[in-house]
Amino acid sequence: MADGPTGAVLALLGVLSVYAASGSGPVVERETGGETEWAEPWDGAVFRPPSALGAVGMTRSPRTPQPGREEAGDLPVLLWWSPGLFPHFSGDSERIECARGACVASRNRRVLRDSRTRALLFYGTDFRASDAPLPRLAHQSWALLHEESPLNNFLLSHGPGIRLFNLTSTFSRHSDYPLSLQWLPGTAYLRRPVPPLQERAEWRRRGYAPLLYLQSHCDVPADRDRYVRELMRHIPVDSYGKCLQNRELPAARLQDTATATTEDPELLAFLSRYKFHLALENAICNDYMTEKLWRPMHLGAVPVYRGSPSVRDWMPNNHSIILIDDFESPQKLAEFIDFLDKNDEEYMKYLAYKQPGGITNQFLLDSLKHREWGLNDPLLPNYLNGFECFVCDHELARLDAEKAHAASPSDSPSPETHIAQPSHMDCPMPTPGFGNVEEIPENDSWKEMWLQDYWQGLDQGEALTAMIHNNETQQRKFWDYLHEIFMKRQHL
Ligand SMILES: *[C@@H]1O[C@H](CO)[C@@H](O)[C@H](O)[C@H]1NC(C)=O
Ligand SMILES: *[C@@H]1O[C@H](CO)[C@@H](O)[C@H](O)[C@H]1NC(C)=O
Ligand SMILES: *[C@@H]1O[C@H](CO)[C@@H](O)[C@H](O)[C@H]1NC(C)=O
Ligand SMILES: *[C@@H]1O[C@H](CO)[C@@H](O)[C@H](O)[C@H]1NC(C)=O
Repeated sequence: MADGPTGAVLALLGVLSVYAASGSGPVVERETGGETEWAEPWDGAVFRPPSALGAVGMTRSPRTPQPGREEAGDLPVLLWWSPGLFPHFSGDSERIECARGACVASRNRRVLRDSRTRALLFYGTDFRASDAPLPRLAHQSWALLHEESPLNNFLLSHGPGIRLFNLTSTFSRHSDYPLSLQWLPGTAYLRRPVPPLQERAEWRRRGYAPLLYLQSHCDVPADRDRYVRELMRHIPVDSYGKCLQNRELPAARLQDTATATTEDPELLAFLSRYKFHLALENAICNDYMTEKLWRPMHLGAVPVYRGSPSVRDWMPNNHSIILIDDFESPQKLAEFIDFLDKNDEEYMKYLAYKQPGGITNQFLLDSLKHREWGLNDPLLPNYLNGFECFVCDHELARLDAEKAHAASPSDSPSPETHIAQPSHMDCPMPTPGFGNVEEIPENDSWKEMWLQDYWQGLDQGEALTAMIHNNETQQRKFWDYLHEIFMKRQHL
């Protein structure tokens, strides 16, 4: 399929090359450029203990194995196509017990063509068109786990990218196995008492600003520093991370992310001296909320937030955070923060949810209650294992439906196709953190990097779709398009 000029040019540009399907596949190096631990220490990647994964590979809900599928040789296989982050189990493969029965989770690419291999599992950050297992087999579902923002992979933010998958587990409430509250351990976390306001007033007298900013990953799609820089012209902000830094954390130990993690008690105690925390996500997507939002609430500070446009749906009550986009300008926002800073009664209204009965949002309470994975909860599976079981159960059900259909086509319809939707990864095109895109010079690093990334994500999704459908017209279109880019680059 990759033969001829099309394949050659695609491969040349690193956009597409087709995985040759026999034997052991090339183990692809994990690409860098994601939001790594080092780039943004306080962004806390999830795949790092002691976060969501907890004790990896250990916690599974005890289930009674179902009769009839006892032979491991008959079990459906889920193949983790993404290298790098896995294994989360020690060997090649592992039997997993789920609600409907058992499956085998494997990371051995040799089983790709096996008829028992029913699902391919992908981790979004690592998904590359150039590493996609083609040709696609009709009996296999593609399942995507991507709890992170699109910063790592804009391919998935476009229809042609996300529709490659059948099942998703993303931050979006619309995904098949939603992880929207992946950074919120529970209501007790929100209810932690507020430190006495007098203490914070004392820190203010000693010269602390009302607002804290703590960010070390500066060039991000949400372009947050452009906004914060503007806000700083109107109100004091103490900034401790690498971005717009104007202060040093009090101890060298805290400055070093190797010694002080996001959950370091001394760091948290220090952060809680501030009444307001600037909380801007690295990318803007519906339902993408991280510890930047929940941690200030835990500490009894008020988040000054920009991130998920639908964040209100998830808040403990309707008066618990300040939304940057409610203000027509940074100056107006600064005036409002200054007002709250001088008015304890009005300020404390933002923390009313910490009182008994103060969490009134039933949607939030229900979502916490009904999620079947936990964060550092020994009684619940972590969401990686939960996702595997979700896919396993889905495939067992699909197998049963296929068998029933084969036995009696008139009584049992063939299983419905299930295709992921753009709402599963709902991230609009990045816009500047402040001002209009036309006013920002072309050589601006945000403009150069993220707008290009965004559109290249679409190109890759479309190109891959064309390869999968073996649509010559479409492939020809991309050949021309890529040839054009190639010629432009040669002239640079
Ligand atoms: C916020 O909640 C309070 C108490 O539940 C209610 O009285 C008020 O109308 C709500 N405000 C908005 C804007 O929804
Ligand atoms: C999976 O999704 C693809 C589209 O990406 C679709 O063609 C296929 O029928 C789907 N498979 C199942 C089992 O739903
Ligand atoms: C961008 O271009 C302007 C003039 O066109 C120049 O003054 C400026 O230094 C450039 N900035 C960068 C980051 O290259
Ligand atoms: C191939 O792609 C073109 C352009 O997107 C489309 O118009 C055409 O219907 C496709 N052909 C097939 C056979 O899917």
